[in-house]
Amino acid sequence: MDNRPIGFFDSGIGGLTSIPYVMKKLPEERIIFFGDTARAPYGSKSADTIQHFSLQIAHFLKNHNVKMIVIACNTVSATCLEYLRRVYPDIPIIGVISPTARVVSKRCAPGASVGVIATSVTVKSGAYEKKIKALRPDLQVHSAACPAFVPLIEEGIIDNEIMRLTIKYYLDEFLRRYDITDLVLGCTHYPLISDEILRIYPHLRIISSSMEAANAVELELKKRDMLSSARSENHIFVASDLSAPFLQMIHRISEGKKEIADIHFYNLDL
Ligand code: DGL
Repeated sequence: MDNRPIGFFDSGIGGLTSIPYVMKKLPEERIIFFGDTARAPYGSKSADTIQHFSLQIAHFLKNHNVKMIVIACNTVSATCLEYLRRVYPDIPIIGVISPTARVVSKRCAPGASVGVIATSVTVKSGAYEKKIKALRPDLQVHSAACPAFVPLIEEGIIDNEIMRLTIKYYLDEFLRRYDITDLVLGCTHYPLISDEILRIYPHLRIISSSMEAANAVELELKKRDMLSSARSENHIFVASDLSAPFLQMIHRISEGKKEIADIHFYNLDL
């Protein structure tokens, strides 16, 4: 048993899409979430920059005495997971790509054509193809980078014509060319537009890395006998910029109840 909080982080609001699943599955767990909203998106930045930012955030979480760090970001999982594990060998650190690949391997029909949409960095890393193919060599895996999604989502442009046009711009040709049946949302921001995607392509079966992150947390805590027995304090949500979409998401997650979440601003460069 371990009553310390679990640390989560993402470049921005995307990782927050995992939080409701964690709260529902593991109501006794306390969460400290860091969203680097001032510096998002990460998905088109260099590996060195992403590593530098991730290290700052992992350090911040460690100073808050977290029992586990969850990289609720595919871009960081694809580029920095092993690096962070080397820097912090005493804290369990989990990423989102392996758990999501495991679900793909369990759910997809033999020979299915699987699409992975993600940031440019994640696609370039080839992490999803490698992990999925290692588990299910029969699957066809095709990836597409969709770099405009995250900046639009961080601006709160989600349920409107600009987003619908952007979805069609990236997905029309990609889905048709490879006859994709199963689509992996390989970026934790994308569940925020999954309704829009399904409205345009209702035949798709969607697999979300955000939901799988929550399942992986539960598994890992159980395996290590680190589940919390009671949550005595509020969850903490920290951002490097308290942007309107970040605050709206927290409001939605905590159902407007102030006693559930504390919100803070933290400048990592100070
Ligand atoms: N939510 C992130 C991911 O899963 C980060 C996207 C970005 O900052 O570009 O990749």
